[in-house]
Amino acid sequence: MKNMRPGRNDPCPCGSGLKYKNCCMGKDIPIRPKVTQDIIETYLKKYNIRLKNEKDIEGIRRAGRLTVDTLDLVERHIKPGVKTDDINTLVHEFTIKNGAIPAPLNYRGYPKSVCVSVNDVICHGIPGESILKDGDIVNIDVTPILNGYYADANKTFFVGTPSEGAKKIVSVARESLKAGLSMSKPGNRLGDIGWAIQRYAEARGCSVVREFVGHGVGLDFHEAPQVPHYGVQGRGIVLIPGMVFTIEPMINLGKKELHILPDRWTAVTNDGSLSAQFEQTILITENGYECLTPYDLDEPILK
Ligand code: MF3
Ligand code: CO
Ligand code: CO
Repeated sequence: MKNMRPGRNDPCPCGSGLKYKNCCMGKDIPIRPKVTQDIIETYLKKYNIRLKNEKDIEGIRRAGRLTVDTLDLVERHIKPGVKTDDINTLVHEFTIKNGAIPAPLNYRGYPKSVCVSVNDVICHGIPGESILKDGDIVNIDVTPILNGYYADANKTFFVGTPSEGAKKIVSVARESLKAGLSMSKPGNRLGDIGWAIQRYAEARGCSVVREFVGHGVGLDFHEAPQVPHYGVQGRGIVLIPGMVFTIEPMINLGKKELHILPDRWTAVTNDGSLSAQFEQTILITENGYECLTPYDLDEPILK
């Protein structure tokens, strides 16, 4: 990351169109480094991070729109009495119909096309014969591969009428993702994202799962870097334009500890408390971030 400071006669990095010397030079304005070929190579060699180009981004954006359409479709079908395997069928067929492939299917031996995680299941719930009942919360995690590009997002829904605990954990999980997104801009670091999430969730008496993290995504399902949902402000890799990764905090109403069921996938809270999650795929831009799986995080919890 050398040569970050522009020359006197270079265009000003603030984007004014003036020469640097006639604009921000000498003023105490932070320099936003342009992503040079040098920086692209450094991120690849040092961190194994593949920065995305315009073509990649458009591909991931399209996959992201399908992801959101899939979540919308599922939302319309969630109600008491629905079998979790029916959600799998819905997601699988919709994905194929749209010319995409469900990334979870056969991923490291995962047997289904979507993750369906109910109540104390933190993530990676396998759809099957179990039936959604009134008062449950259910997370649906969708990742299509469209023309080779991956986009990964999830949402937690209420089934019927939620309990007070259900309302609380879904709200805290959703706001935790928003806290992470608010830190997502160039110059900030990965630690800032985790720190903001942890601070928000723990201040409300909830806990942050440590074993599963956000991740680079786009050309593959799980790429570098890892994006922890806890951490220390000012630590970690510097965010730069072209990074594409998920933020997907898993937040428990009780304690953070978990165990994996004998199916070797399903992660559940040790204390049996409810767990909720929201996930988005984002692109770091010059000014902040763009959501590549753009669903609304402000919508009212109950419709
Ligand atoms: N979609 C999950 C994530 O957010 C990964 C699921 S892996 C699977 O990273 F095999 F369970 F699908
Ligand atoms: Co993910
Ligand atoms: Co996911």
